[in-house]
Amino acid sequence: MSIIEKAAGKLGQQKRPEPPSLENIHQEIPRQESIRQEIPQQEAAPETIALRHDFSLAKLKSQNIITPQAEHSSLAEEFRMIKRPLLDNAFGQNGIKVKNGNLIMVTSSLPGEGKTFCSINLAMSIAMEMGRTVLLVDADAPNPRLLKTLGVSYEQGLLDLLLDDKLQLSDVIIRTNIENLSLLPAGRHNRHATELLASDSMSALLDDLAQRYSDRIILFDSPPLLVTSEASVLASHMGQIVMVVEAEKTPQPAVRQALTLIEDCELTWVLLNKTRHLAGVDHYGYGYYGKS
Ligand SMILES: Nc1ncnc2c1ncn2[C@@H]1O[C@H](COP(=O)(O)OP(=O)(O)O)[C@@H](O)[C@H]1O
Ligand SMILES: [Mg+2]
Repeated sequence: MSIIEKAAGKLGQQKRPEPPSLENIHQEIPRQESIRQEIPQQEAAPETIALRHDFSLAKLKSQNIITPQAEHSSLAEEFRMIKRPLLDNAFGQNGIKVKNGNLIMVTSSLPGEGKTFCSINLAMSIAMEMGRTVLLVDADAPNPRLLKTLGVSYEQGLLDLLLDDKLQLSDVIIRTNIENLSLLPAGRHNRHATELLASDSMSALLDDLAQRYSDRIILFDSPPLLVTSEASVLASHMGQIVMVVEAEKTPQPAVRQALTLIEDCELTWVLLNKTRHLAGVDHYGYGYYGKS
């Protein structure tokens, strides 16, 4: 059975699949129309957020980003499938409650594999699900591209929060016109970013996020594992990790090496990005990698 079939099997059976072998990750995902389900409205933690950004939905669409107006595009269908097991594990809907399962990091071995692209689309997809709120964090402190990609220009964020005791989360979170989607910038450049991300303040902030916002997904767009040490530091706090692998490009030894850096995370998913149908359309593979 291929890794994707196993992943799909998990979706159907609502229990953890066997770990796949990395040799077989170049597979297509079977579409599962039956996996859609409505989730009852959850109460969000109260907070007063002053900052707001209104996206141009047309511009997002032109950037290949899922919007509420394109809920049934093939891209939206792919990400619907990708988010399902993440949500199930985050909220214990398959009977397994993963510790800090609502903290999800998107990483990869190398730059350019599609972390930011997949983080944004995954966040959009989750935000469009009834009653699910998502905070999308730019945790790629060495190369913060998330907000720039989205055309958002606020600067203060994660690193500032770690440096300034007086700054509150609600001072730096940005609400958007996508209902249920908020953003947290990386913050102003700091050459001690690695130390800050590894600090006790960061652990406290993440614990606070995981508990205070236990009803929402907090998605971290992160640096590549093999280029900087920030990603593996961050990984140690995450309940789930999505490891983006660029199809037909990332060398398998790089993927293997990167996986060893995050082996402490209980749930690591491999997302095969930039694969192509014969017709040349991008799509995504998704599989489970981890300990049984
Ligand atoms: N599935 C995809 N289809 C089309 N373009 C993609 C896809 N994934 C990534 N890209 C593009 O590839 C480039 C690198 O992606 P990006 O998300 O910035 O990588 P990373 O964050 O891993 O460095 C960007 O121009 C992005 O728009
Ligand atoms: Mg990026």
